[in-house]
Amino acid sequence: MNAVYEKLLTCYNSIKDKIPFEPKVALILGSGLGDYADGIEVVSTLSYHDIEGFPVSTVAGHKGQFVFGYVDKVPVVIMQGRVHYYEGYSMQDVVLPTRLMKLMGAKVLFLTNAAGSVNIEYEAGDFMMITDQISSLVPSPLIGQNLDELGPRFCDMSEVYDKDLQEILRTTAKDLQIRLREGVYIQLTGPAFETPAEVRMCRALGADAVGMSTTCEAVAANHMQMKICGISCISNLGCGILDQPLSHEEVGETAARVAPLFKKLITESIIRIGKTL
Ligand code: HPA
Repeated sequence: MNAVYEKLLTCYNSIKDKIPFEPKVALILGSGLGDYADGIEVVSTLSYHDIEGFPVSTVAGHKGQFVFGYVDKVPVVIMQGRVHYYEGYSMQDVVLPTRLMKLMGAKVLFLTNAAGSVNIEYEAGDFMMITDQISSLVPSPLIGQNLDELGPRFCDMSEVYDKDLQEILRTTAKDLQIRLREGVYIQLTGPAFETPAEVRMCRALGADAVGMSTTCEAVAANHMQMKICGISCISNLGCGILDQPLSHEEVGETAARVAPLFKKLITESIIRIGKTL
């Protein structure tokens, strides 16, 4: 059996016996949002350390566990802390948790992240619904032998972010009177932030926000035909837009400041998405 698939099944079997829970929505929490999971009706938690073969995040501020529970009546699995390519994991390992959540039963993948702005109209603290993505500057998690059990070799990418889910997010934000930008997210490897020239490059390529995650997970989820939606929290203006250096602390501070609003938006969106499943 293919080693990547075998590892996935090992993780799945190790979870299945411990957690008899079938999520409908999988939520990945970005920087500064980790405590969202504390506010839901938790059924159980599972530390990544307790899953055989599972990649464990090394980023400060990322907790590293699955939380199983309910957002209102919607069964969810939440990744409190994701793994990043810049930590040294292979792309196959980075997307393993996403694949695992699909095997557990999740139909929808809700991606969140903290991102830098590329679009000069954006402000720190804005939210941006991801309408499309540029993943070509990081390796594809689908490189290598195709996992036919999960999806096809050459998969269509014409609507990675589901149009119906986008409409739900749009109307939810409107009803909650939360401004929701819409734009294209580009993933770079990190871990260094971009140079001003790289931010200009991202703009020239058609991106509105830049970060170090998300598109690889969306590629893997799209391969498995999950329905995907995503929101970036614009934690800072892209490097060079202001005449000042960036810091990881700034990213965390902004995300924490707008977290209550972000949580409201996510909760209400999940409730509405749940009604369509
Ligand atoms: N660049 C890349 N990743 C990020 C940024 C940024 O400016 N802010 C938060 N994550």
